[in-house]
Amino acid sequence: MSSVDSPRESWATRLGFIFAAVGSAVGLGNVWRFPFQVGQEGGGAFLLIYLLFIVLVGFPAMLVEFVAGRYTERNPVGALKQLGTGLWEYVGWIFVVTGFVILSYYSVVAGWTIRYAVLGLQDGYLADVEAAEAQFVSLAVGLEAILLHALFMAVVVTVVAFGVERGIELAVKVLVPAIIVIAVGMAIYAFTLEGAGEAYTYYLAPDLEVLADDWRSIVPAAAGQAFFTLSLGMGVMLTYASYLQEDRNLATDSAIIIGFDTAIAFIVGLIVFPVLFTAGVDPAAPGPGAIFVSLAAAFGDLTLGWLVGAVFFATVAVAALSSAISLLEVLVSYLIDERGIGRVPATVALGGGLFVLGIPSALDLVLLDLFDGFADQILLVLGGLLLSVLVGWRRSDLAITELELGIGDLGPYGDAWIWAVRIPVIAALLVALTLGILGYIEFLQDDFWPWVQEL
Ligand code: PHE
Repeated sequence: MSSVDSPRESWATRLGFIFAAVGSAVGLGNVWRFPFQVGQEGGGAFLLIYLLFIVLVGFPAMLVEFVAGRYTERNPVGALKQLGTGLWEYVGWIFVVTGFVILSYYSVVAGWTIRYAVLGLQDGYLADVEAAEAQFVSLAVGLEAILLHALFMAVVVTVVAFGVERGIELAVKVLVPAIIVIAVGMAIYAFTLEGAGEAYTYYLAPDLEVLADDWRSIVPAAAGQAFFTLSLGMGVMLTYASYLQEDRNLATDSAIIIGFDTAIAFIVGLIVFPVLFTAGVDPAAPGPGAIFVSLAAAFGDLTLGWLVGAVFFATVAVAALSSAISLLEVLVSYLIDERGIGRVPATVALGGGLFVLGIPSALDLVLLDLFDGFADQILLVLGGLLLSVLVGWRRSDLAITELELGIGDLGPYGDAWIWAVRIPVIAALLVALTLGILGYIEFLQDDFWPWVQEL
């Protein structure tokens, strides 16, 4: 049912779309952000709510983005202009702003992964967890962190400016299996550690008391993490689906993407917590340094760990690259389609702006939190919420028809999906957004403001 007035680029191979979408989804969200959120939000209680959000909210919300993209064949701003009228036309803007904020600090964290890959080759890793923690603090911020952020941004800009994403599509084919193989191997090693039993209880057995006490922070954290890791809420999946032909079964594709993404995050947790518990470190303590501290210490403990570690961190850096490319591609496609700016100048200008906006995150971890919390717990959830309202309530007729292309008559399942979007998904996102805003205000008062006063 898509408009056919202009021929549009589409995916070269049938699997190209899946690889690109998995490449976007699998990234720092799984390897870096997921374990540190679990650690900060109390372990299994967070995991439980997170998994509920992935399946009950993430899956229907991904279908919403897919149908919106494939139907309109536009970038997010253009797609919203076509789907809605009046104020809806501006919702696409939220996506663009969100992508800009996320990519700015995403690149800083990606710089850390490059640093840790090099660290393995140069000096090897420190087996002592406390020493590894001190090392993280010294590497994560400062001039070197800024330079690595610049380097990563430059690579992203180069790939997007020259439109050589095809190569990345291919890389993803190798990368995702590589991450899985190394992570599974490391999880087996972690299983042999002394603290593994205690760690599994913490990670896998939800403590309902923790849930009862802390749901106000667990719910928005889980919602934000689910959207972040699935690349939802800022138009990436929408844009990718806009290059898609009508014969794809969007439901199956979503299930595959979500399956890979969730498996990788879950396995990383099976490595991080046994290492931290064995060393007697409070899993919340390392914060954004969680994987750098715990994985580095694990690699430091193994024969040839320096090599496995270097390969692992390098792989994660490339996985981060494929996610970052998807983020920048959305921003660039907006400037090209809606503003008529050329690909190269658009990409270079955005890259420069992103580099500047990322500098604060490379100077202090509180500032990284400032950006990450805002983008994740507020902007992504808001974007997902608004798109769900628009598609679920105002354009549900076309949504079902569009989803049926490539699947066939959905019968009652089409209605079930729309009603899932209309009530439970929207309600869950509303609750998460409200709690996210309140939590963010608290963060500003308790962490950010004292930090400003200390300056
Ligand atoms: N999903 C990516 C990751 O897990 C990050 C991302 C978020 C990419 C939003 C695009 C859009 O690393």
